Amino acid sequence: VGVIRLRQRGPYVVETAEDVKVVDWNGNEYEVARRPVALCRCEESAKKPSCNATHVKVGVQASEVAVPVGDMPVA
Ligand code: FES
Repeated sequence: VGVIRLRQRGPYVVETAEDVKVVDWNGNEYEVARRPVALCRCEESAKKPSCNATHVKVGVQASEVAVPVGDMPVA
């Protein structure tokens, strides 16, 4: 199973044994320079959608934390 890991102060990192493609809404593929794939979520990367570590300069701090699955309320 692949994992998309949200870094607290950085990108979404795609962790999988399988190769992944990053495509836009038209299906066109982005060049991915590094593996694992790290996708920018600070909106400051000059290489979007890839992270280029600009988040370190801008001081990203994620506000969202996942609720453990077993702790989710039953609807
Ligand atoms: S999350 Fe790394 S540059 Fe945006």
